Amino acid sequence: MTILVTGGAGFIGSNFVLDWVAETGEAVVNLDKLTYAGNPANLASLEGSPLHVFVRADIGDSDTVAKLLRKYNIRAVVNFAAESHVDRSIHGPGEFIQTNVVGTFRLLDEARSYWGELPHDKQRDFRFLHVSTDEVYGSLKPLDPAFKETNPYEPNSPYSASKAASDHLVRAWHHTYGLPVLTTNCSNNYGPYHFPEKLIPLCILNALNDKPLPIYGDGQQVRDWLYVKDHCAAIRRVLEAGEVGETYNVGGWNEKANLEVVNAICSILDELKPRRDGKPYAAQITFVTDRPGHDRRYAIDASKLERELGWKPSETFETGIRKTVQWYLDNTEWVSTVTSGEYRKWIDTNYGSR
Ligand code: NAD
Ligand code: DAU
Repeated sequence: MTILVTGGAGFIGSNFVLDWVAETGEAVVNLDKLTYAGNPANLASLEGSPLHVFVRADIGDSDTVAKLLRKYNIRAVVNFAAESHVDRSIHGPGEFIQTNVVGTFRLLDEARSYWGELPHDKQRDFRFLHVSTDEVYGSLKPLDPAFKETNPYEPNSPYSASKAASDHLVRAWHHTYGLPVLTTNCSNNYGPYHFPEKLIPLCILNALNDKPLPIYGDGQQVRDWLYVKDHCAAIRRVLEAGEVGETYNVGGWNEKANLEVVNAICSILDELKPRRDGKPYAAQITFVTDRPGHDRRYAIDASKLERELGWKPSETFETGIRKTVQWYLDNTEWVSTVTSGEYRKWIDTNYGSR
Protein backbone atom coordinates (compact mmCIF):
# COMPACT_ATOMS: atom_id res chain seq x y z
CA MET A 1 0.00 0.00 0.00
CA THR A 2 1.14 3.53 -0.70
CA ILE A 3 -0.01 7.00 0.28
CA LEU A 4 0.41 10.23 -1.69
CA VAL A 5 1.64 13.15 0.41
CA THR A 6 1.62 16.62 -1.14
CA GLY A 7 3.88 19.37 0.18
CA GLY A 8 6.05 16.74 1.84
CA ALA A 9 9.24 18.79 1.49
CA GLY A 10 7.88 21.64 3.63
CA PHE A 11 7.99 22.04 7.39
CA ILE A 12 5.09 19.86 8.58
CA GLY A 13 5.01 17.67 5.46
CA SER A 14 8.64 16.58 5.81
CA ASN A 15 8.19 15.87 9.52
CA PHE A 16 5.11 13.83 8.56
CA VAL A 17 6.91 11.82 5.86
CA LEU A 18 9.78 10.98 8.23
CA ASP A 19 7.34 10.05 10.99
CA TRP A 20 5.11 8.00 8.62
CA VAL A 21 7.94 5.89 7.24
CA ALA A 22 9.36 5.28 10.73
CA GLU A 23 6.01 4.48 12.38
CA THR A 24 4.16 2.54 9.67
CA GLY A 25 6.77 1.22 7.21
CA GLU A 26 4.31 2.10 4.41
CA ALA A 27 5.62 3.71 1.21
CA VAL A 28 5.06 7.42 0.45
CA VAL A 29 4.93 9.18 -2.89
CA ASN A 30 5.85 12.77 -2.08
CA LEU A 31 4.63 15.36 -4.59
CA ASP A 32 6.05 18.82 -3.98
CA LYS A 33 6.57 21.84 -6.20
CA LEU A 34 9.66 22.89 -4.21
CA THR A 35 8.74 26.54 -3.77
CA TYR A 36 11.02 28.61 -1.53
CA ALA A 37 9.46 26.69 1.40
CA GLY A 38 10.19 23.19 0.09
CA ASN A 39 13.55 21.69 0.92
CA PRO A 40 14.59 18.16 -0.15
CA ALA A 41 17.39 18.33 2.45
CA ASN A 42 14.69 17.82 5.11
CA LEU A 43 14.34 14.28 3.72
CA ALA A 44 18.05 13.48 3.33
CA SER A 45 17.76 10.59 5.80
CA LEU A 46 15.39 8.81 3.36
CA GLU A 47 17.81 8.94 0.42
CA GLY A 48 17.87 5.53 -1.27
CA SER A 49 14.90 4.26 0.75
CA PRO A 50 12.39 2.23 -1.30
CA LEU A 51 9.69 3.69 0.96
CA HIS A 52 10.06 7.25 -0.38
CA VAL A 53 9.52 8.41 -3.96
CA PHE A 54 9.95 12.13 -4.55
CA VAL A 55 8.21 13.84 -7.50
CA ARG A 56 8.68 17.54 -8.19
CA ALA A 57 5.27 18.76 -9.41
CA ASP A 58 2.41 21.15 -8.72
CA ILE A 59 -0.79 19.87 -7.06
CA GLY A 60 -2.57 21.77 -9.85
CA ASP A 61 -0.85 19.61 -12.52
CA SER A 62 -3.81 17.30 -13.11
CA ASP A 63 -1.99 14.96 -15.57
CA THR A 64 0.85 14.23 -13.18
CA VAL A 65 -1.50 13.72 -10.23
CA ALA A 66 -3.71 11.39 -12.32
CA LYS A 67 -0.69 9.31 -13.38
CA LEU A 68 0.77 9.03 -9.88
CA LEU A 69 -2.52 7.94 -8.32
CA ARG A 70 -2.81 5.04 -10.80
CA LYS A 71 0.86 4.11 -11.08
CA TYR A 72 1.26 3.66 -7.32
CA ASN A 73 -2.26 2.35 -6.47
CA ILE A 74 -2.61 5.14 -3.95
CA ARG A 75 -4.90 4.32 -1.01
CA ALA A 76 -4.88 7.77 0.62
CA VAL A 77 -3.91 11.37 -0.18
CA VAL A 78 -2.65 13.68 2.58
CA ASN A 79 -2.68 17.27 1.34
CA PHE A 80 -0.16 19.57 3.03
CA ALA A 81 0.77 21.54 -0.11
CA ALA A 82 -0.01 25.21 0.36
CA GLU A 83 1.34 28.69 0.54
CA SER A 84 1.44 29.00 4.32
CA HIS A 85 2.83 32.36 5.47
CA VAL A 86 0.33 35.07 6.44
CA ASP A 87 2.75 37.98 5.84
CA ARG A 88 3.52 36.74 2.31
CA SER A 89 -0.23 36.49 1.64
CA ILE A 90 -0.52 40.19 2.53
CA HIS A 91 2.32 41.17 0.16
CA GLY A 92 1.11 38.89 -2.68
CA PRO A 93 -2.16 36.96 -2.38
CA GLY A 94 -2.18 35.59 -5.96
CA GLU A 95 -0.07 32.48 -5.29
CA PHE A 96 -2.29 31.68 -2.29
CA ILE A 97 -5.41 31.60 -4.46
CA GLN A 98 -3.59 29.60 -7.13
CA THR A 99 -2.20 26.86 -4.90
CA ASN A 100 -4.54 26.78 -1.92
CA VAL A 101 -7.81 27.16 -3.85
CA VAL A 102 -7.26 26.21 -7.52
CA GLY A 103 -4.57 23.63 -6.68
CA THR A 104 -6.71 21.96 -4.02
CA PHE A 105 -9.64 21.89 -6.45
CA ARG A 106 -7.55 20.16 -9.13
CA LEU A 107 -6.10 17.66 -6.65
CA LEU A 108 -9.55 16.87 -5.28
CA ASP A 109 -11.00 16.40 -8.73
CA GLU A 110 -8.24 14.02 -9.81
CA ALA A 111 -8.69 12.09 -6.57
CA ARG A 112 -12.42 11.88 -7.30
CA SER A 113 -11.98 10.43 -10.80
CA TYR A 114 -9.40 7.91 -9.59
CA TRP A 115 -11.59 6.93 -6.61
CA GLY A 116 -14.57 6.50 -8.96
CA GLU A 117 -12.65 3.82 -10.91
CA LEU A 118 -11.64 1.76 -7.86
CA PRO A 119 -13.32 -1.55 -6.99
CA HIS A 120 -15.88 -1.30 -4.17
CA ASP A 121 -13.65 -2.38 -1.24
CA LYS A 122 -10.87 0.00 -2.28
CA GLN A 123 -13.37 2.83 -2.75
CA ARG A 124 -14.65 2.23 0.78
CA ASP A 125 -11.14 2.37 2.26
CA PHE A 126 -9.80 5.33 0.23
CA ARG A 127 -9.21 8.62 2.12
CA PHE A 128 -8.45 12.23 1.14
CA LEU A 129 -7.11 14.00 4.23
CA HIS A 130 -6.89 17.77 3.95
CA VAL A 131 -4.54 19.53 6.37
CA SER A 132 -5.93 22.90 7.39
CA THR A 133 -5.57 25.59 10.01
CA ASP A 134 -7.31 27.13 13.01
CA GLU A 135 -7.04 30.51 11.26
CA VAL A 136 -10.21 29.75 9.26
CA TYR A 137 -12.24 30.42 12.44
CA GLY A 138 -11.03 34.04 12.71
CA SER A 139 -9.94 35.78 15.89
CA LEU A 140 -11.04 35.22 19.52
CA LYS A 141 -11.63 37.79 22.27
CA PRO A 142 -9.64 37.22 25.49
CA LEU A 143 -12.43 35.33 27.33
CA ASP A 144 -13.99 33.49 24.37
CA PRO A 145 -13.96 29.69 24.54
CA ALA A 146 -11.43 27.94 22.27
CA PHE A 147 -12.45 27.10 18.67
CA LYS A 148 -14.61 24.00 18.28
CA GLU A 149 -15.26 22.25 14.96
CA THR A 150 -18.72 23.87 15.00
CA ASN A 151 -17.41 27.47 15.10
CA PRO A 152 -18.39 29.50 12.02
CA TYR A 153 -15.69 30.25 9.47
CA GLU A 154 -14.52 33.89 9.73
CA PRO A 155 -11.14 34.09 7.96
CA ASN A 156 -9.40 37.47 8.09
CA SER A 157 -6.23 37.24 5.98
CA PRO A 158 -5.75 36.30 2.33
CA TYR A 159 -4.00 33.14 3.63
CA SER A 160 -6.82 32.08 5.96
CA ALA A 161 -9.47 32.97 3.36
CA SER A 162 -7.71 30.74 0.81
CA LYS A 163 -7.49 27.88 3.33
CA ALA A 164 -11.17 28.36 4.26
CA ALA A 165 -12.07 28.15 0.56
CA SER A 166 -10.10 24.91 0.24
CA ASP A 167 -11.86 23.44 3.29
CA HIS A 168 -15.22 24.24 1.71
CA LEU A 169 -14.20 22.53 -1.53
CA VAL A 170 -13.16 19.42 0.39
CA ARG A 171 -16.47 19.38 2.25
CA ALA A 172 -18.43 19.81 -1.00
CA TRP A 173 -16.54 16.97 -2.75
CA HIS A 174 -17.74 14.69 0.03
CA HIS A 175 -21.34 15.89 0.18
CA THR A 176 -21.84 16.06 -3.57
CA TYR A 177 -19.68 13.25 -4.94
CA GLY A 178 -19.20 11.03 -1.88
CA LEU A 179 -15.38 11.32 -1.89
CA PRO A 180 -14.25 9.97 1.52
CA VAL A 181 -12.61 13.06 2.98
CA LEU A 182 -11.25 14.07 6.39
CA THR A 183 -10.18 17.58 7.41
CA THR A 184 -7.90 18.59 10.27
CA ASN A 185 -7.68 22.19 11.54
CA CYS A 186 -4.53 22.66 13.55
CA SER A 187 -3.05 25.46 15.65
CA ASN A 188 0.48 26.91 15.29
CA ASN A 189 3.18 24.27 14.87
CA TYR A 190 6.86 24.56 15.78
CA GLY A 191 9.84 22.18 15.76
CA PRO A 192 12.60 20.90 13.43
CA TYR A 193 12.78 22.08 9.78
CA HIS A 194 10.58 25.15 10.45
CA PHE A 195 11.39 27.75 7.79
CA PRO A 196 12.83 30.86 9.48
CA GLU A 197 10.24 33.30 8.14
CA LYS A 198 7.93 32.19 10.99
CA LEU A 199 8.14 33.69 14.50
CA ILE A 200 9.90 30.90 16.43
CA PRO A 201 12.72 29.92 14.03
CA LEU A 202 13.18 33.57 12.98
CA CYS A 203 13.74 34.64 16.57
CA ILE A 204 16.08 31.73 17.38
CA LEU A 205 18.28 32.55 14.38
CA ASN A 206 18.11 36.33 14.75
CA ALA A 207 19.09 35.99 18.41
CA LEU A 208 22.15 33.90 17.50
CA ASN A 209 23.11 36.39 14.76
CA ASP A 210 22.92 39.53 16.95
CA LYS A 211 19.88 40.76 15.02
CA PRO A 212 16.68 42.38 16.37
CA LEU A 213 13.84 40.07 17.49
CA PRO A 214 10.92 41.81 15.70
CA ILE A 215 7.70 41.78 17.73
CA TYR A 216 4.65 42.99 15.77
CA GLY A 217 2.51 45.55 17.61
CA ASP A 218 2.36 45.03 21.39
CA GLY A 219 3.33 41.34 21.27
CA GLN A 220 0.20 40.35 23.20
CA GLN A 221 -1.35 38.36 20.33
CA VAL A 222 -1.99 34.81 21.48
CA ARG A 223 -1.28 31.61 19.56
CA ASP A 224 -1.84 27.99 20.67
CA TRP A 225 1.43 26.12 20.06
CA LEU A 226 1.77 22.45 19.13
CA TYR A 227 5.03 20.56 18.66
CA VAL A 228 5.08 19.39 15.03
CA LYS A 229 5.56 15.70 15.84
CA ASP A 230 2.33 15.76 17.87
CA HIS A 231 0.55 17.17 14.80
CA CYS A 232 1.98 14.32 12.68
CA ALA A 233 0.74 11.74 15.18
CA ALA A 234 -2.72 13.35 15.13
CA ILE A 235 -2.89 13.17 11.32
CA ARG A 236 -1.83 9.51 11.41
CA ARG A 237 -4.59 8.79 13.91
CA VAL A 238 -7.27 10.67 11.96
CA LEU A 239 -6.27 8.88 8.76
CA GLU A 240 -6.50 5.54 10.56
CA ALA A 241 -9.73 5.99 12.49
CA GLY A 242 -11.38 9.33 11.66
CA GLU A 243 -15.01 9.27 10.57
CA VAL A 244 -15.40 10.10 6.89
CA GLY A 245 -16.72 13.62 6.26
CA GLU A 246 -15.73 14.83 9.74
CA THR A 247 -13.35 17.61 10.71
CA TYR A 248 -11.01 17.39 13.72
CA ASN A 249 -9.39 20.30 15.55
CA VAL A 250 -5.78 19.66 16.58
CA GLY A 251 -4.06 21.74 19.26
CA GLY A 252 -1.70 21.58 22.19
CA TRP A 253 -3.59 23.48 24.93
CA ASN A 254 -0.60 25.85 24.98
CA GLU A 255 -1.88 29.39 24.58
CA LYS A 256 0.96 31.90 24.78
CA ALA A 257 1.36 35.60 23.96
CA ASN A 258 4.05 36.20 21.34
CA LEU A 259 6.20 38.16 23.77
CA GLU A 260 6.10 35.24 26.21
CA VAL A 261 7.20 32.86 23.43
CA VAL A 262 10.13 35.06 22.44
CA ASN A 263 11.17 35.52 26.07
CA ALA A 264 11.09 31.72 26.54
CA ILE A 265 13.41 31.30 23.53
CA CYS A 266 15.75 33.98 24.92
CA SER A 267 15.95 32.30 28.36
CA ILE A 268 16.79 28.89 26.84
CA LEU A 269 19.48 30.47 24.67
CA ASP A 270 20.87 32.36 27.71
CA GLU A 271 21.36 28.95 29.29
CA LEU A 272 22.54 26.89 26.27
CA LYS A 273 24.60 29.48 24.38
CA PRO A 274 25.10 32.69 26.40
CA ARG A 275 25.87 35.91 24.51
CA ARG A 276 29.56 36.76 24.43
CA ASP A 277 28.92 40.12 26.16
CA GLY A 278 27.03 38.41 29.02
CA LYS A 279 23.81 40.37 28.30
CA PRO A 280 20.48 38.50 28.03
CA TYR A 281 19.17 37.75 24.50
CA ALA A 282 15.93 39.52 25.49
CA ALA A 283 17.88 42.79 25.03
CA GLN A 284 17.50 42.17 21.26
CA ILE A 285 13.66 42.35 21.41
CA THR A 286 12.38 45.22 19.21
CA PHE A 287 8.77 46.31 18.73
CA VAL A 288 7.90 46.92 15.07
CA THR A 289 4.83 47.97 13.04
CA ASP A 290 1.98 45.49 13.42
CA ARG A 291 0.78 43.04 10.76
CA PRO A 292 -2.27 44.51 8.95
CA GLY A 293 -5.47 42.78 10.10
CA HIS A 294 -3.49 40.88 12.75
CA ASP A 295 -5.69 38.25 14.46
CA ARG A 296 -5.52 38.80 18.22
CA ARG A 297 -6.01 35.29 19.58
CA TYR A 298 -6.33 31.69 18.40
CA ALA A 299 -7.08 28.76 20.70
CA ILE A 300 -8.04 25.22 19.77
CA ASP A 301 -10.41 22.93 21.62
CA ALA A 302 -9.04 19.51 20.65
CA SER A 303 -11.42 17.54 22.90
CA LYS A 304 -13.23 15.84 19.97
CA LEU A 305 -9.98 14.31 18.71
CA GLU A 306 -8.99 13.30 22.23
CA ARG A 307 -12.40 11.82 23.11
CA GLU A 308 -13.22 10.07 19.85
CA LEU A 309 -9.80 8.97 18.63
CA GLY A 310 -7.73 8.92 21.83
CA TRP A 311 -5.05 11.37 20.60
CA LYS A 312 -3.17 13.56 23.08
CA PRO A 313 -0.10 15.76 22.58
CA SER A 314 3.02 14.32 24.15
CA GLU A 315 5.01 17.57 24.46
CA THR A 316 4.25 20.59 26.60
CA PHE A 317 5.36 23.98 25.27
CA GLU A 318 8.26 23.93 27.73
CA THR A 319 9.62 20.55 26.55
CA GLY A 320 8.92 21.21 22.87
CA ILE A 321 10.52 24.66 22.71
CA ARG A 322 13.67 23.40 24.44
CA LYS A 323 14.00 20.56 21.88
CA THR A 324 13.41 23.07 19.09
CA VAL A 325 16.06 25.55 20.23
CA GLN A 326 18.52 22.66 20.63
CA TRP A 327 17.69 21.42 17.09
CA TYR A 328 18.57 24.81 15.59
CA LEU A 329 21.81 24.90 17.56
CA ASP A 330 22.70 21.41 16.29
CA ASN A 331 21.74 21.91 12.62
CA THR A 332 23.79 24.86 11.46
CA GLU A 333 24.33 23.41 7.97
CA TRP A 334 20.57 23.16 7.33
CA VAL A 335 20.20 26.72 8.61
CA SER A 336 22.88 28.13 6.33
CA THR A 337 21.34 26.54 3.22
CA VAL A 338 17.85 27.91 3.87
CA THR A 339 18.96 31.42 4.83
CA SER A 340 20.63 32.37 1.58
CA GLY A 341 19.37 33.85 -1.72
CA GLU A 342 15.59 34.27 -1.90
CA TYR A 343 15.30 34.22 1.86
CA ARG A 344 17.32 37.43 2.20
CA LYS A 345 15.04 39.17 -0.31
CA TRP A 346 12.00 38.22 1.79
CA ILE A 347 13.57 39.62 4.96
CA ASP A 348 14.14 42.94 3.15
CA THR A 349 10.56 42.96 1.79
CA ASN A 350 8.88 42.22 5.11
CA TYR A 351 11.09 44.02 7.63
CA GLY A 352 12.74 46.76 5.54
CA SER A 353 9.86 49.23 6.00
CA ARG A 354 8.65 48.25 9.49
P1 NAD B 1 5.38 25.15 4.34
O1 NAD B 1 5.20 26.48 3.70
O2 NAD B 1 6.56 24.92 5.22
O3 NAD B 1 5.42 24.01 3.23
C1 NAD B 1 4.55 23.98 2.14
C2 NAD B 1 5.07 22.95 1.14
O4 NAD B 1 4.14 22.89 0.04
C3 NAD B 1 6.44 23.29 0.56
O5 NAD B 1 7.24 22.14 0.52
C4 NAD B 1 6.12 23.78 -0.85
O6 NAD B 1 7.17 23.54 -1.78
C5 NAD B 1 4.88 22.96 -1.17
N1 NAD B 1 4.03 23.58 -2.20
C6 NAD B 1 3.62 24.89 -2.24
N2 NAD B 1 2.84 25.07 -3.33
C7 NAD B 1 2.73 23.87 -3.95
C8 NAD B 1 2.05 23.43 -5.11
N3 NAD B 1 1.32 24.27 -5.85
N4 NAD B 1 2.15 22.13 -5.45
C9 NAD B 1 2.91 21.27 -4.72
N5 NAD B 1 3.59 21.65 -3.64
C10 NAD B 1 3.49 22.93 -3.23
O7 NAD B 1 4.02 24.88 5.12
P2 NAD B 1 3.78 24.11 6.50
O8 NAD B 1 3.94 25.07 7.62
O9 NAD B 1 4.52 22.85 6.49
O10 NAD B 1 2.21 23.82 6.36
C11 NAD B 1 1.74 22.65 5.71
C12 NAD B 1 0.23 22.66 5.70
O11 NAD B 1 -0.27 22.71 7.03
C13 NAD B 1 -0.38 23.86 4.98
O12 NAD B 1 -1.50 23.42 4.28
C14 NAD B 1 -0.78 24.80 6.11
O13 NAD B 1 -1.89 25.58 5.74
C15 NAD B 1 -1.14 23.81 7.20
N6 NAD B 1 -0.97 24.28 8.58
C16 NAD B 1 0.24 24.83 8.98
C17 NAD B 1 0.40 25.20 10.32
C18 NAD B 1 1.70 25.78 10.82
O14 NAD B 1 1.76 26.23 11.97
N7 NAD B 1 2.77 25.80 10.04
C19 NAD B 1 -0.66 25.03 11.23
C20 NAD B 1 -1.85 24.48 10.76
C21 NAD B 1 -1.99 24.10 9.45
O1 DAU C 1 -2.51 29.08 13.43
C1 DAU C 1 -1.96 28.25 12.45
C2 DAU C 1 -1.11 29.07 11.51
O2 DAU C 1 0.08 29.39 12.21
C3 DAU C 1 -0.79 28.36 10.20
O3 DAU C 1 -1.98 28.13 9.50
C4 DAU C 1 0.16 29.19 9.35
O4 DAU C 1 0.53 28.47 8.19
C5 DAU C 1 1.40 29.48 10.17
O5 DAU C 1 2.28 30.31 9.44
C6 DAU C 1 1.03 30.14 11.50
O6 DAU C 1 0.51 31.48 11.27
P1 DAU C 1 0.90 32.72 12.21
O7 DAU C 1 0.70 33.96 11.45
O8 DAU C 1 0.26 32.60 13.55
O9 DAU C 1 2.48 32.39 12.40
P2 DAU C 1 3.78 33.33 12.40
O10 DAU C 1 4.91 32.50 12.90
O11 DAU C 1 3.94 34.07 11.13
O12 DAU C 1 3.42 34.40 13.53
C7 DAU C 1 3.15 33.99 14.86
C8 DAU C 1 2.76 35.23 15.64
O13 DAU C 1 3.96 36.05 15.77
C9 DAU C 1 1.76 36.11 14.94
O14 DAU C 1 0.92 36.71 15.92
C10 DAU C 1 2.59 37.19 14.25
C11 DAU C 1 3.77 37.33 15.18
N1 DAU C 1 5.06 37.70 14.53
C12 DAU C 1 5.47 36.98 13.44
C13 DAU C 1 6.66 37.27 12.82
C14 DAU C 1 7.10 36.51 11.60
C15 DAU C 1 5.84 38.71 15.07
O15 DAU C 1 5.47 39.34 16.08
N2 DAU C 1 7.03 38.99 14.46
C16 DAU C 1 7.47 38.33 13.33
O16 DAU C 1 8.55 38.69 12.80
